[in-house]
Parts: sequence; structure tokens; C-alpha cells
Amino acid sequence: MKALLLKIRFNNFLYILILVMTACNPDRKGHQFVIGFSQCVESDNWRKTMLNGMKRELAFYPNVSFIYRQADGNSQKQVGQVKELIRKKIDLLIISPNEAQPLTPAVEEVFNSGIPVLVVDRKIASSLYTAYVGANNYEIGKLAGNYIVSLLKGKGKIIEVTGLPASSPAIERHKGLMDAIGRFDSIRIIQQLNGQWMKDSAVSEVQKIAGRLPEADLVYAHNDVMGLGTYEVAKSKGYAGKLKIIGVDGLPGPAGGIQFVSDRILTATLLYPTGGEEAIRIAMQILNKENFNKENILQTSVVDSTNVYLMKLQTDKINSQQTDIERQQVMISEQQRIYNNQRTFLYILVTTLIIAVSLGGIVFYSLRENRKINKKLEAQNQEISLQRNQLIEMSAKAEAANEAKFNFFTNISHEFRTPLTLILGPLEEILSDSRLNYPIRQSLSLVQKNVIRLLRLVNQLMDFRKIELAKMQLKASENDLVGFVNEIMDAYKGIARKRNIDLRMITKERQLNAWFDITMVDKVMFNLLSNAFKFTKDNGFVHVYIEKDEEKKMAVIKVQDNGVGMSKDSLNHSFELFYQGEYENYKGSGLGLALSRELIQMHHGSISVESEKWKGTTFEIKIPLGTEHLEKHELVQRNELKAVLYEDEKIYTTDLEPGEGPKNGMFGLKMQREHSILIIEDNPDLRNFLFSRLNVSYEILEADNGSSALQQAFDVVPDLIICDVVIPGKDGIALTNIFKSDIRTSHIPIILLTAKIGIEEQIEGMKNMADAYITKPFNLQFLEETIKSLLANRAKLKAHFTGELSSEIKSHISNKLDRKFVNEFTALVESNIANENFTVEELCRNMGISRVQLYRKIKALLNCNVNDYILNTRMQKAKYLLQHEELTIGEVSYKVGFSSPAYFSTVFKSKFGVTPSDFKEK
Ligand code: FRU
Repeated sequence: MKALLLKIRFNNFLYILILVMTACNPDRKGHQFVIGFSQCVESDNWRKTMLNGMKRELAFYPNVSFIYRQADGNSQKQVGQVKELIRKKIDLLIISPNEAQPLTPAVEEVFNSGIPVLVVDRKIASSLYTAYVGANNYEIGKLAGNYIVSLLKGKGKIIEVTGLPASSPAIERHKGLMDAIGRFDSIRIIQQLNGQWMKDSAVSEVQKIAGRLPEADLVYAHNDVMGLGTYEVAKSKGYAGKLKIIGVDGLPGPAGGIQFVSDRILTATLLYPTGGEEAIRIAMQILNKENFNKENILQTSVVDSTNVYLMKLQTDKINSQQTDIERQQVMISEQQRIYNNQRTFLYILVTTLIIAVSLGGIVFYSLRENRKINKKLEAQNQEISLQRNQLIEMSAKAEAANEAKFNFFTNISHEFRTPLTLILGPLEEILSDSRLNYPIRQSLSLVQKNVIRLLRLVNQLMDFRKIELAKMQLKASENDLVGFVNEIMDAYKGIARKRNIDLRMITKERQLNAWFDITMVDKVMFNLLSNAFKFTKDNGFVHVYIEKDEEKKMAVIKVQDNGVGMSKDSLNHSFELFYQGEYENYKGSGLGLALSRELIQMHHGSISVESEKWKGTTFEIKIPLGTEHLEKHELVQRNELKAVLYEDEKIYTTDLEPGEGPKNGMFGLKMQREHSILIIEDNPDLRNFLFSRLNVSYEILEADNGSSALQQAFDVVPDLIICDVVIPGKDGIALTNIFKSDIRTSHIPIILLTAKIGIEEQIEGMKNMADAYITKPFNLQFLEETIKSLLANRAKLKAHFTGELSSEIKSHISNKLDRKFVNEFTALVESNIANENFTVEELCRNMGISRVQLYRKIKALLNCNVNDYILNTRMQKAKYLLQHEELTIGEVSYKVGFSSPAYFSTVFKSKFGVTPSDFKEK
């Protein structure tokens, strides 16, 4: 295949090369040599014979291209033609110059440019040529002269009819004649006429001197045709028989000199061969760089009545042979043409055959490969169709399961609505009772808020389902959008006032009528406004813009806030169903915005959002104006707005009311409680709930994010921490890890509170040394009991520490870090027991913590004051020394860091109720 391609490329290359070469020199046409032939004249037979001779010979050289030009006997014209031949980039010039002088410069130029020049017949006036072919015209003149002398027997008058006087044969033929007859005074030329080598010119010249013809014995014409012309004039004057006429050329054939001699028109003719064949032969020797002669002189002889018969026979024979040769050449070239055609055909055939065989091979190979591939594909196809069928089956099952799941979901959602509504009704009734005491009202408000929240979610889920099942129908009526949005905004005015949020509508439109479904757009507006209020801090703003886009025929509503904003990631997913962005203190359900988008799309409108973290958020809704985009069945008469608004208003705004827990101070003075608990929870409702329940028994600290939790834990060092696992900033697990590995907080029991019910998460929590793990929803009593039990365990541990610190007691301290801390602390105290100047400051320095932290830590772990502990240790040691060592009271007091035995005795007695000496005696 590759070889074939290469061959095709190579052939293309050759073809292009030939085309290029041909384009450069169209006369070459693929030939190896180009010969240019510049002929002076062509009208006469002699010249035609010369050209035929050349063509005959050229037939033997198929690689030669031949360009022929003739100048009609005009020297200027011939100069121009020579120049043209040079331009045609000939390889060799053959020239028979009309006149010697005028043609010499042109011929020299050709020769000097490196192109070989072959001069034939007539000469130039220079030796700057490559070779010459022709008879010796001087010899011809001399031969003619000698013949005339013998014919006239040394006495007579001659009329000379010359060729062009400036052409070399005319000059040389005349000179030869003169040299031959010069010795005979009785022979003289009585008249010289310029016949210009042509019969007609000769006739007109002879006619001019016809009167002198009787005087002349002989006419010497430089060629046979001029001799014929003279004969015709003489005949017309009646002198034909008396006048001897000698010509030159001796051409064979019916119109040639030999025939004229035979017909006694001419007395004799001198053979002057054309040299056509010889010229081509020598030209080829030159081109093929073979040896050649510069001067190639052709033979001549006299033909008269004595040899004309023989001559005629010979020339006729030669002529017929030449005709044969020409015929054969025609046949050969015909054969050649046929051969060429057949060869081309054969080439095409062979090439086609090769291509066919190669293609056959390729086809065979491809077929085999194809079959293999087909088999493979078939197998794959089968596999794919099997998989597809399985997939179809699976997806059908999945769809059915999904459908069943959704149906269940929808049904159960629906089922939720009734009990929720039934909870809400009585609840609202109870709440309307003004006698209700505050903690109960507070708890019931929390219940109400959450029931409403559930109701909203259930409603949204059901709406979504309706859209999915295409059961929700758009019922658009014409309403004033400005008034409609204003009414919805009214529902938020109370909250806005309480939180000092700047809520306002900004519009140029007094009224903007549009066709929309009020139940749908009201859900969207409530949802957007609720979101805006949820994420806007107190003292912020929520601005609603209403515009009319005249050009696009759209109503545009924008809800803009300067709240917390969204991250790029949240922004990209904000309209996705069930996408829950991570917001400060609030996690969405992933339903509201997705539902809003669906509802707006049902209006053929669009909803988009722009937001920047910590700068704010703007939602933009576009609803097409008019009714063109709506179907007939989607249009209804104006609805009653108020009835619809109530439920959405309650559902969307109730949980925005700032939740208030019964904080410290609400019931008068802050109560001093024994234990403090830090609640770390981002959901304000749950935090408030825990606060209200635990505040009764414990001092409560609150944190809604990781950093606030850390700060409070280290500042206050609470007795217990309740921590949600998922909170903004550091999560609960990370916080537990920090608390448990910091000496200041490592002793604090931690309860992890979370909605994550997976056992892995619980294990993870316990690994980080959480003391308990409680999952939401939790039982409050269980939480309270857990708190109590953790604190009681801690108290027991402390009780142990307050007694003698045996290593066994120390091992009860669950936390390794705490154990290490207690060990270090007790070792330091013990090693300094005899040092009366030992201070708490020194102790803190040695342990690397602050005085406050040391006091808090020792209080938490050992439930005593640091100074009390040091004193207690000294007294315990004194007790031991008094019991086991034979030491004086003074010595004992010195050994336990008292410089004054009296002061030691006082302290000892106040501690144990006996003096040291009484104790020793007992
Ligand atoms: C032909 C011719 C011949 C003559 C020769 C001389 O054109 O006139 O008859 O011999 O030219 O160049």
C-alpha cells in the first residue's frame, strides 16, 4: 500500500515536472533537443526539397523537436525570426541566410550565446559558426565556366542572370565563372542581370534586354528556374533554338533541372545538392557531442545531354526510393503511434490490474477484519442490549419504586397537614389566653413556630409534587402587581420594626397590571422576603423594586437585602432542589427557591440571583406582560386576594419573629447556681429551648458558633458542655478535641448533641473523648439525667482528691491529661512541703498556667482552693511524721514548712481538733 502510494506520488511528481518544463518551453514538449531552422525563402522547389530531406532525416530522431521559420527572401524578417528562435530556447540553429552581411550579426549573437549554429547553402560574412553544409559555389561557377569554354570552343558572348548579388552563392558562382573564362579573351559577358534567384524576376529582367538576345550565344543563369525564365522569354522572341542556357541546381523530378535538360530547355545544369539530410545528421552529431567536420562540402557535377538520361534514371530511382522511405516512415510513425497507444493502454491495464489486485487484497483483508469486527460488535451489541434491557427493567423498577416513594411521600405529607393543622388550632387558642404564664407561653410559642415550619415544608413538598405530576395549573388573572406586592410586604412590617430593618418598596409605577397566578406569585414573594429577613442582620435593609421593562414587555421585581450574602458555590446551586446552603445559624430546606423557580417558569418568566458574601443578595423575577404567552385555559377572572394571603403570611412570617428565651434577669435577680453549662448550638430555637429548661438548675452560657464557644470555654471554664456536632466554624468533634487536649478545659464533661445518628459518627465523637453522645430528637429528661450523672461522677472524683491522694485515687481521673496535671501539681506541692516560702505564684510558674486557671482547674478536679490544698498536704504530712517518726514538735513543724512551732500547733488543732503533742501521745 505504502509502495503504491509512493509510486503514485512519484508519477505525480514526474507529471508535474514535465508540465513545468513544458510550461517553460512549450516547443520542447518532452523532447530532449529543440532544433530551430531559419530558412531564407521557401517558395521554390529547391528549398522544398531541402525541407523534405530534413524532415525525412528527422524521422530517425524522435527525441528532437523541430521549429521551422522562413523569411520570404527578406533579410530583415529573417533577423527577427532568428531572435524569436533564441527566445524559444532552441538547442541548435540551422540557418540558410538570405544575404550574408545583414544576417551576420544575428548569427554571431546566437553562436556567442553558446548555441551551436549550422550554416547551410548560403554563408554569412564571418567564421563564427559551428559547421557549414553545402556545395562549393565557387567550384560550381568554375565548372560552369570550363563547360562554357568547351561548349563555345573558346569564343562567344554570354548573358549572366545572377541570384541576389549580396548572397554568397551569387558572389561565388560569378567569381568561379570569371576565373574559368578569364583566360579566353574571345569569351565575354555582354550583359549581367539580377534575377534575385527567382524565375519571375529573371523573366522581367530578360524581357528588358530581349533586344540583345540575338547577340548572345549563351545564358549563364545562377539557378535552373531563372534559366527556365530566360528560355521562356527567348522562346517568345523566337530565339529558343539558337540560345544555349546553362543553369544550376539540377533538381530531380518533373519541375527540376534534370527534366529541363532532358526537355532541351536547358543545355546543361550543375548539380547543387540541398544538403537537407546531411544538415540534420551533422546537427545531431553536434548535439550528441560526437565528432563532426566544420566544413562539409557536397559534391557537384555537370548534367547535360550526354548523361541526362542516366541521371534521370538515377534520380527517378532515388525519388521513388525516397517516396518509399517516406511512406514507410508514415507507416512506422503510424505503427509507433499504435505501439504508443498500446503501450499506454498496457501501462494502464497493468496499473489497473495491480491496483485491482491490491484493492482486492485490501477488500479481502477488510472483509475479514470487518467480519471479525462485526462478530465483536454483534457480541457487544448483544451485551449492550442485554444491559439496556436490564437497565430498562431496573429503571422501570426504580421509577415504580420512586413513584411509590413519592406517592408515599405526598400522601404522608398530606396526612401531616391535618394533624399539624389540628395542633395549630388549639395551640393558637391557648396562646390567645392572656392568663398564660411566661414560661408556658414561651414553650407553646416555640411549638407553634415549629408546627408552622413543618406545615410550610409539607405545603412546599406537595406543591412541588403537583408541578412534577403536571397537576398544578396556572390560573392567571389580571392584577396590580404594585398593590399585590405591597400587601405581602405589609406582613413583614412588624418584624422589620422590631429588628429595625429598613423595609420599603421602590418603584416609579403607581400601578402595574400583569397577568399572574396570585397563589403562586404570593408563595414566591413570601419565600424571597422571608429569605431576605432570615439573612439580614438587625438594622439592615430589605428593598423591593418593581419596574416595567417596556422594550421586553416584562414586569421586573427585585428583592434586595444587605444580609450575609452567598458564597459562589451556594449561588451556583441556589435554585437546585434540596440544596442546603450553609448559612450562619440557618440551614435551608432546599425547597423554597426550587419551588419559586418552577412557579415563575410556569408564568414563562425567569428568576435569577446575584449575591456577594457579606454584602447582600438580590433576587430578580421577570414576568411577561400581557396574555400572548398564556394559553386560554390558563386565564381566569380576578380572584379574591385576602383569603389566600392569610395562610402564606402566617406560614412564612411566624418563624421570623425573634425567639426569646427566658434569659437571666427576666425573672428578677440572677440566681447563683452551683454548676455552669455551656450550650453550643447554632439553631436559636433549640438553644433557647435548652436554655429555658436548664436555666432553672444551672448557670447557662450560650455560643452559636465555634469561635465564641472556644472563647467562653477558656474564659469561664464551665462545669459541663453541651455541643451540637454541626455548627458554623469548627464543628463539634473538632471543638471536643480542642477542649479535651487543653489543660484548662480537659476536665470538663462534654455531651455531643446531634442529628447525625450514624454509629460511625458516634464512635468518632467518643474517640475524641466526648463523655456522652445524644442524638436528636432527644428526650429532655434523658439529657437532664445525663448532665446530672456526669456532674455527680465528677463530684465523686473530687471527693477522692480532697482525701489523701493515693495513686489508686489518681487513676480514677479519667482524662490522661488531667491525671498528668494532678500528678505534676501534687508532686510540686510535696517536694516543696518543707519550703516555708513556697507560693502559689511559684507553683503557677512551674506549671505554666495562670493563677486563675490553676484555681479553676484545682477547684474542678479536687474541689478545693489551691492554698487549702497546700495547707492540707502539710497537715497530712505532719500527721504522718507525728505517728511514724521520733521527732519533736519543733522538728515536725520545720519539716512541713512552718518556721513557728506555736503557729503550726494552732493550725493543726484547728484542722484536727487536737494539738500535735496530744495527737502524738494517742
Ligand atoms: C533556391 C536557390 C537555388 C540556388 C540557391 C542559392 O532558393 O535560389 O536555386 O541554388 O538558392 O542559394
